[in-house]
Amino acid sequence: MDALMNNALRSLIFLLSACCILACGEKLDQPKLEALATCTSTQSITYTNHIKTILDGRCISCHSTSLSGTDRVGATAAYDYDTFAAATASVGGEDVAQRANTRAQEGTMPPTGSLPAAELNCLQLWIDQGTQE
Ligand code: HEC
Repeated sequence: MDALMNNALRSLIFLLSACCILACGEKLDQPKLEALATCTSTQSITYTNHIKTILDGRCISCHSTSLSGTDRVGATAAYDYDTFAAATASVGGEDVAQRANTRAQEGTMPPTGSLPAAELNCLQLWIDQGTQE
């Protein structure tokens, strides 16, 4: 009886944590995004310290190597932004990072609307500095 209860409890806890991880993953990391307001050309702008927050928060719900089929919501195949390698890959001679910046600066990605000016500034600096990791 005790063992059965323990198992049921463990399963419940596992399910709850899994749901939390999934649900939390969808949310923007607001404090981190706000910190990006400070990107300047005198700083070294890197994927790890600056750009990952933007791409995770704004792009990977559609553009992720872990998504396929309808889960991509129509996002172009191979244009993925969930890892540094994917984000800086070259697809058909076209730079995936460069393309991200172009679409973001145009205001056509994400499809829901233009990114805030501070994030566009960080992206542009990252490209200008050679997409450092
Ligand atoms: C809600 C889903 C969704 C989100 C979020 C999203 N995209 Fe897209 N993306 C799409 C769809 C759909 C297409 C194909 C249609 C198109 O090109 O407009 C696409 C295509 C692209 C392409 C390839 C086409 C090209 O122009 O070369 C790039 C690059 C791109 N998106 C960048 C981004 C970036 C950068 C972000 C985050 C700032 C982002 N997307 C967020 C759905 C999304």
